[in-house]
Amino acid sequence: MKFSTIILVALRQINEFVAHNGVAPIPNPSAPLPAGQDGLKLSNDPAHPFITPGPDDLRGSCPALNTLANNGYLPRNGVGRPDQIVTAVMEGLNLGNDFAKFLVYQAFLMNSNPLTNLMSIGMKTPLTGQDPPKPALVGGLSQHGTFEGDTSMSRVDAFFGDPAAFNQTRFNDFLSFATKYGANGTYDINATAELRFERPQDSIMTNPQLVFTSPRILSAYSEAVFPLVYFVDGRLNNRQLTQDAGSSFFANQRVPADFHRPPAPVSFEIIEPMVNQIFTKHPFTPGVNHGRNNYVLQPKTPALSDFCRIYGDIVLRVVPGQYPKPTCQLKDALNKNLGFFYDTVKFQHNCTQAFPYDKY
Ligand code: HEM
Ligand SMILES: *[C@@H]1O[C@H](CO)[C@@H](O)[C@H](O)[C@H]1NC(C)=O
Ligand SMILES: *[C@@H]1O[C@H](CO)[C@@H](O)[C@H](O)[C@H]1NC(C)=O
Ligand SMILES: *[C@@H]1O[C@H](CO)[C@@H](O)[C@H](O)[C@H]1NC(C)=O
Ligand SMILES: *[C@@H]1O[C@H](CO)[C@@H](O)[C@H](O)[C@H]1NC(C)=O
Repeated sequence: MKFSTIILVALRQINEFVAHNGVAPIPNPSAPLPAGQDGLKLSNDPAHPFITPGPDDLRGSCPALNTLANNGYLPRNGVGRPDQIVTAVMEGLNLGNDFAKFLVYQAFLMNSNPLTNLMSIGMKTPLTGQDPPKPALVGGLSQHGTFEGDTSMSRVDAFFGDPAAFNQTRFNDFLSFATKYGANGTYDINATAELRFERPQDSIMTNPQLVFTSPRILSAYSEAVFPLVYFVDGRLNNRQLTQDAGSSFFANQRVPADFHRPPAPVSFEIIEPMVNQIFTKHPFTPGVNHGRNNYVLQPKTPALSDFCRIYGDIVLRVVPGQYPKPTCQLKDALNKNLGFFYDTVKFQHNCTQAFPYDKY
């Protein structure tokens, strides 16, 4: 066995031990990549070979995490701890540390088992250990209505089928928008702006149960720009995703041959202006469908631009929806993760900390 394989097998055994034994210690989040090791780098290196996932390996709604599991940056069974996922997205795709933690702790608060500190990147699984009491879901990233939501680019809305499974018909639209609007047929900022606007327009007409409110609106708009930042080879780094590279990540869930990650860590300060740019081109108001083509605006849900209120909505509405009155170790674990999550929104956005339980 290669050394990296041994490490991953060992990590997987730790996860399995924890899942059987109920309660895990919660380590601090991973630190940023050390200076000098956070630059341009071959991601598809010999230590990270693509292996087709086996029948028991979990994959889900995020093309990036699926790919990182298939290339061994994440445990190949698709179950991991937050620090493993933060490290994987930093190493494989050069996410900035604060941005990686923002995504991961957000997902953990909605989709993980806080007691075992494990989360599935796909559907619900016993591999995350014994569940805390309902209404906790511990549904994994594929759990609809948490992080996963409607109007995805390469998945169908939950009303139509499995919202976590890659759908070629949907992805063909992604490619045709690149052909129609992108520079030289790439998925660029203009193609992104048009596709991101078309997706809810389509769902408004076809999905009687469309939900397009906080927090989904933020992930929908961020994920739209991720591919042209993180899936573009870092040697070019021109915000133009070729259809070949896009297909490798989305359809094959495989890091393209010779792919290099971005030349420097990418965080909020690059993602947010791009999100603003596509929003400004085609603004929308959050809402839900009451039947097909009956889009009802939701004035109480925060707007896309209201970052701190979306943070508050996750922490004060979504999390207590699953954990109304946690006690003991469960409350401690949630408070720890809430603290890690808040740390990622504190400086750049100056949000006020929200406490769903008592102050800690
Ligand atoms: C770091 C932790 C991450 C977590 C927890 C996460 C989680 C998710 C989830 C739950 C979805 C499903 C949302 C939906 O469409 O309903 C999603 C979609 C997506 N993610 Fe990730 N993600 C992470 C990192 C990344 C990174 C680094 C990229 C880089 C390209 C990425 C790219 C995408 C894209 C493009 C989609 C949209 C797929 C679509 O609309 O069809 N994600 N992610
Ligand atoms: C993919 O999406 C299309 C269009 O929304 C749908 O007709 C088709 O049944 C989906 N395919 C699968 C395998 O779900
Ligand atoms: C399209 O590709 C050509 C040839 O590689 C290049 O010269 C041109 O600058 C590209 N156009 C854009 C808008 O990127
Ligand atoms: C996007 O489209 C605008 C016109 O709507 C054009 O001026 C601009 O150059 C395009 N941007 C790119 C990156 O192709
Ligand atoms: C952050 O918020 C605090 C309290 O609302 C305020 O006093 C401070 O000036 C803000 N700082 C920045 C950089 O916006």
